[in-house]
Amino acid sequence: MNTSKQVNVMIGLLFVAFLTFGAYIARENGRAEAARENQEELKAERGATIFVNNCRTCHGLEGKGTEEGGIAPALNRPQFLVVPKGDKQYEPTPDGEATALHNFLFNTIACGRTNTAMPTWSEHHGGPLSDTQINYLVLMITRGRWDLVTEIGHEHDSATTPPTKKEDILVTDPAKLSLTTKNCGQFNPLTAKEFYDRDPLKPLAGSGAPAAAAAAPKAAPSGPTVQGVAVADFFQKTCATCHGNKRQGIVGPALTPAKLTNTDDFYFQTIKNGRPGTAMPSWGAAGLNEADIKALVTFIKTVEP
Ligand code: HEC
Ligand code: HEC
Repeated sequence: MNTSKQVNVMIGLLFVAFLTFGAYIARENGRAEAARENQEELKAERGATIFVNNCRTCHGLEGKGTEEGGIAPALNRPQFLVVPKGDKQYEPTPDGEATALHNFLFNTIACGRTNTAMPTWSEHHGGPLSDTQINYLVLMITRGRWDLVTEIGHEHDSATTPPTKKEDILVTDPAKLSLTTKNCGQFNPLTAKEFYDRDPLKPLAGSGAPAAAAAAPKAAPSGPTVQGVAVADFFQKTCATCHGNKRQGIVGPALTPAKLTNTDDFYFQTIKNGRPGTAMPSWGAAGLNEADIKALVTFIKTVEP
């Protein structure tokens, strides 16, 4: 073999080695990707199991809250979703927004909500769950893995004889629930507003996903408002959880003109200061001003549901 042939063979061998190595790297990347997905699936499953064991009683069997007969708000809702990078249908959620949502959910679960039935779950504050477990819950909620909650819930409930019924799971006498006292909690339904207003499902350009309705500039509400929101909408977002979306009463009493026979000032004071020792929070402390509270009193006393 002359030198130039030897060089050619060497180059050939190097090339083969290079290809093999390239294929190896590609396969490793694929494996890493699959491993990451498996990891995430496992974490979401753990989150779903924790939800089934601890949260269904108040937030509903599938996380749909009062809609399912629960006494607490729905967690199974699009506002709480994070779209991961590389999603084929929707724009990924910007990192900053995903972090803020994560902190909001983590803080709410870890600390509970002061003066409400939402318990403190973090073991740092006397609850049963570790930070890792709370992170599993947040992952399950932000990835919207309610399919796992449904599946694990079914398994869980059919394992007993006789099978556990929905009525046995849901809290029926909310008056017996104890209220969370002030601790590390940073949020209430007013400070959480930016998260309730999220719209994370923005279709990718050219994905064939249904285009979002053109974002028409929102007209300022014409009637009375609370914190800049039409009073009826504010009531739905903030008060309906406990008083019902038709104001029929759930945890709190019915709030209809026929039922509210006391003076305006009586209800003003109730909303402003809450009712210590009950689930009714102090909305003055949460940030409502006098005009906000007056608008609410007029609304519940004069507008039929
Ligand atoms: C004893 C009833 C009860 C249980 C059990 C419970 N919650 Fe709650 N949760 C509530 C109530 C009531 C609220 C609404 C608090 C408020 O008005 O600020 C709430 C609010 C929340 C919120 C904020 C929702 C929002 O709309 O701002 C999250 C997140 C949450 N709970 C997660 C959980 C998780 C996760 C578990 C299980 C580990 C759990 N909760 C168990 C009663 C409960
Ligand atoms: C976490 C549950 C909860 C939320 C959220 C809540 N309430 Fe209440 N509310 C209650 C409970 C419980 C009572 C009854 C307290 C008692 O036993 O005296 C009550 C009582 C009241 C009363 C007195 C009714 C009466 O007949 O005496 C008014 C008025 C009222 N709430 C208005 C509101 C408004 C307005 C909002 C929203 C800004 C709101 N509540 C949000 C639980 C809640």
